[in-house]
Amino acid sequence: MRTIINVANRLPVTIGDTIRKSSGGLVSALEGVSGDEFELKWLGWPGAVPDSPEEQQQLDQRLLEEFGCCSVFLSAEEVEAYYDGFSNGSLWPILHYNPHLMEYDGVQWDIYKQVNRKFADRILELAGNDDLVWVHDYHLMLVPEMVREARPEIHIGFFFHTPFPSSEVFRSHPRRLELLKGVIGADQVGFHTYGYLRHFRSAVLRVLGLEAELGSIRHGNHLTSLGVYPIGIDSQKFLDELESKPFQEKCRNLREHWKGRRLLLSVERLDYSKGILQRLQAIEKFLQHGQCAKDAVFVFINVPSREMVPAYKQLLEQIVSEVGRINGLYGTIENAPINFIHQSVDFTELCALYSIAEVAMVTPLVDGMNLVAKEYLICQQEEDPGVLVLSEFAGAAQELVNSVVVNPFNTTQMSKSLDLAFDMPIEERRERVQKMRSRIIEFDANFWASSFVNDLAKQVQFDLSPMSVSESEDAIRERLRQSFKPAFFLDYDGTLREFEKIPSAAFPNEKVLAVADALAKAPMDVYIISGRNPEVLQEWFKDYPFTLIAEHGSVVLEPGTTEWLSLNQATDFTWKEHILEVLKLYVGSTPGSFVEEKHSAIVWHYRQCDPEFGVWKARQLLSELYELVANFPVEIHHGKKIIEISSIHVNKGVALEKYAKEKEYDMVLCAGDDQTDEAMFRLEGPQYVTIKVGEGDTRADYRVPDPNHVRKMLLHLVQPEE
Ligand code: UDP
Ligand code: G6P
Repeated sequence: MRTIINVANRLPVTIGDTIRKSSGGLVSALEGVSGDEFELKWLGWPGAVPDSPEEQQQLDQRLLEEFGCCSVFLSAEEVEAYYDGFSNGSLWPILHYNPHLMEYDGVQWDIYKQVNRKFADRILELAGNDDLVWVHDYHLMLVPEMVREARPEIHIGFFFHTPFPSSEVFRSHPRRLELLKGVIGADQVGFHTYGYLRHFRSAVLRVLGLEAELGSIRHGNHLTSLGVYPIGIDSQKFLDELESKPFQEKCRNLREHWKGRRLLLSVERLDYSKGILQRLQAIEKFLQHGQCAKDAVFVFINVPSREMVPAYKQLLEQIVSEVGRINGLYGTIENAPINFIHQSVDFTELCALYSIAEVAMVTPLVDGMNLVAKEYLICQQEEDPGVLVLSEFAGAAQELVNSVVVNPFNTTQMSKSLDLAFDMPIEERRERVQKMRSRIIEFDANFWASSFVNDLAKQVQFDLSPMSVSESEDAIRERLRQSFKPAFFLDYDGTLREFEKIPSAAFPNEKVLAVADALAKAPMDVYIISGRNPEVLQEWFKDYPFTLIAEHGSVVLEPGTTEWLSLNQATDFTWKEHILEVLKLYVGSTPGSFVEEKHSAIVWHYRQCDPEFGVWKARQLLSELYELVANFPVEIHHGKKIIEISSIHVNKGVALEKYAKEKEYDMVLCAGDDQTDEAMFRLEGPQYVTIKVGEGDTRADYRVPDPNHVRKMLLHLVQPEE
């Protein structure tokens, strides 16, 4: 049976005088998924810091035996730096659009890494190769990459329970690079809404500079899928509670207590993302002008949270002071309008409060999902339900479209929404709640977890190896040994050398030169066959005994000579000036783009542009060019961040074939990464050994993932064995 190792900062247990299993949505969601197909294990911090190693060992054993939980124990210093400090003092504010509250500290970052490493190490101990590892939330963003580096075969999922902000906000975090790289170590990353997914993808595009589709990111030889999975609640648990006697009794008591009063409820952790101060302002406006103000009582359940973090301490003081001020101003001997409870309430009491409240105000400034909104709705009696006033910035607003949706920054609108809610006719209330409630029941926590787990289980690790060269390297080497007259035709950019933003920065570095030195000593003819212009190739490789073929097969420089010869049968270049005119317009309207003019081609480069804007303009340009070139002897090639318009009489295949025939090579190894290299791969004959570098469709025989592997392969092929 496959195991799901569910990894979160907190284990689903509460350790006090006794140990209790917490019954959060995540627990029931995953317990529903286990069963015949999956065994479930939990990994996390138990929330307690045992005094001695013996106590730790005892606790560890109990948690494992009685609750199926594997523990990662943290010292008090680790909790302070990793949980209070880095996770909740720097990441949480960034993820919730509050960069001004971010308090970054390099020592806390080191400890965050150290704790993530502890989690990763425990996963590696526990996980079999076929198991699924599901890592939750911002506390553990580095874990996926750490696990994958050690054991790429394990299926790793990651879920953001928070929003993911615009890349403009996320990029302000000093560790943005490492954090994003950490997450995309996962095979599958899940979000509550499409908006968060879009932001994440855009951060990957802009901060990491990786190519990212909407649904996936390819990097190296790994594919990370992105998906939207809106979390649900444990509906059945709530429905059962609504039938229970203690619940009904609690409802009766509370109704009796607030007889004649109209109850408005908010429930949340005390957190600046929840919009509590703005809500208090809206309530004050309502108390001043609202039609039912004198009958209303506001119950605020603010569960204490992250009390060691300065921003939370400060917020508590502000709330207490505001509640005191409002109650002082608008209270009477019989009635304080706001009932502020800074504690958690038990489940039965919570359900009873949800059930009797005429209005629930769920008005966070930003919130990943917000389960309270769903919990309130499921607790409504369908014959006389209440009204949900919901912030448009909660993830839940995407689903709960029949609520009264408000902008939590518009306190006047929020206060008016209370009048609307109190006055709403019963038929309208029923209709609204019924639609949302049935959705909540159907798409519950279990549905959420199953969808994610099923997708994760299906993920096939992206593998470039239907014909990966590594397994065949020895065979190629052997062929080379037996060949009397071998030749290598090697593309440069993206093959021997990684791309850079500016083409001139992709000069041969030490690693490339080491390979060139080795090739120079080896007994085969070497051709550098590139789209580059002649001057650049000559400058870089003049000291090597290589034949240089520039501009995709247009001109050639034989070793030991200084004059470039044309391989090009084209004579008509009048098309160039027409195309240049159009390209210049695109350079003007697309910051960061530029034109490179070659003998038989013109190239528009957009690698330095905003990645999305660049692609958008490239598509526009392509459609314009296709119309323009209809009668010219050219072909258009959309390559890696370039659009190249070149003479149809010139291509790498023609150039290669000419030399292969003339010189009668009995083995021709050619490698390239681009569409233009396919012209070489199309050639037929037993002498050709063709190698595609990177992803994409190809006719080549073999594939290697990147230039680094190409260099290693070439060294392995030509250097004498130790
Ligand atoms: N909750 C709780 N104790 C309380 C009040 C609320 O455990 O006294 C629960 C509530 O039922 C909900 C969760 O806390 O399931 C809050 O989740 P939500 O998604 O609304 O916000 P988060 O705290 O995750 O930001
Ligand atoms: C949010 C986070 C969770 C976290 C929960 C409670 O929902 O996304 O990861 O567990 O708040 O916060 P706490 O700091 O008490 O674990």
